[in-house]
Amino acid sequence: MSKVPVPVPVLVTGGAGYIGSHAVLALKDAGWAVAVVDNLTTGFRFAVPEGVPFYEGDIEDAALLARIFAEQGTRAVMHFAGSIVVPESVENPLMYYHNNTAKSRSLIEAAVKAGVPHFIFSSTAATYGEPEVSPVSEDSPKLPINPYGMSKLMTEIMLADTAKAHAINYCALRYFNVAGADPQARSGQSTAGATHLIKVAVEAALGKREAVGVFGSDFDTPDGTGVRDYIHVADLAAAHVLALEALIADPAASLTMNCGYGRGFSVLEVLDAVDRVTTIPSSAAWSRAVLVIPPRWFRITAGSRRHYRGSRNMPSSMLSSPMLWHGSASWAN
Ligand SMILES: NC(=O)c1ccc[n+]([C@@H]2O[C@H](COP(=O)([O-])OP(=O)(O)OC[C@H]3O[C@@H](n4cnc5c(N)ncnc54)[C@H](O)[C@@H]3O)[C@@H](O)[C@H]2O)c1
Repeated sequence: MSKVPVPVPVLVTGGAGYIGSHAVLALKDAGWAVAVVDNLTTGFRFAVPEGVPFYEGDIEDAALLARIFAEQGTRAVMHFAGSIVVPESVENPLMYYHNNTAKSRSLIEAAVKAGVPHFIFSSTAATYGEPEVSPVSEDSPKLPINPYGMSKLMTEIMLADTAKAHAINYCALRYFNVAGADPQARSGQSTAGATHLIKVAVEAALGKREAVGVFGSDFDTPDGTGVRDYIHVADLAAAHVLALEALIADPAASLTMNCGYGRGFSVLEVLDAVDRVTTIPSSAAWSRAVLVIPPRWFRITAGSRRHYRGSRNMPSSMLSSPMLWHGSASWAN
């Protein structure tokens, strides 16, 4: 059995955001030294735990990055920073190619210059576009249908080429739908105006919204509403730690993996689960498609913890943890 690598100092970009802040907690809980760089455009200073070095700044600031890498002795980057709103990317594509693609290029260059040997990248199922087959495997065609997906795919391509030319390996994790909050309510999804179904449903359940829209009821799914593969943010954060262990264990190998459970839930199933907690009004019209991934790929080979699979069931834990977060004193919005 291969041994679990010794924790190294990690820089988390976008660590004041939703998923990045959960990755910071997962790293910290597992004994890794972690620092955060974030420009706070959508993130929150309060989301970074006390005691974690925080650098307010932009990932395209090469001087800042060089200073952080030197001060922290950084040996790995987890790159969450970016812009994530699909309609916004259609309205303002150049902003997405700047913030997601060009600035990622600057960050990768800074990491290479500083000799940082490992890089983990938050990618997305949007790189697949509208896959014809479900479950969607990593080998499925990458045909993004919006600038957001394309801006992330371009970053994956840069990483692949860079790993061939320099002493750095990488893991691109393609997330599907991320939901939930830290089970201890230390963080959650605080982003103002987020449109994620579970966040919206929980806000409605707590009386912070009037209704939840259900867009589309005639899809080819058991109840006619869109089916999505949701992953709990705490499982996703754990997957990042395992991915980093795998990169350290085999510096010659890079990885690309989907992240989900291989089980889809419909919009109505999610709303039913919220109804079990309280009554919320729902009304017509939402998205499309069945987008589910096969179970095989939430598997990361890392030391003794081979074939790690998410343990939390959807929807109950997906709902209880955000209920806790949105009802907590830490979350004032
Ligand atoms: N939320 C999802 O369901 C989902 C799904 C697939 C992929 N992703 C990817 O996960 C990553 C994190 O998403 P999230 O939901 O936590 O979003 P988020 O908006 O909560 O977090 C992004 C963080 O990055 C920071 N940031 C943005 N641009 C920056 C820059 N140029 N320099 C420094 N900091 C910057 C923001 O202030 C914020 O704290 C993104 O890269 C996104 O593409 C998210």
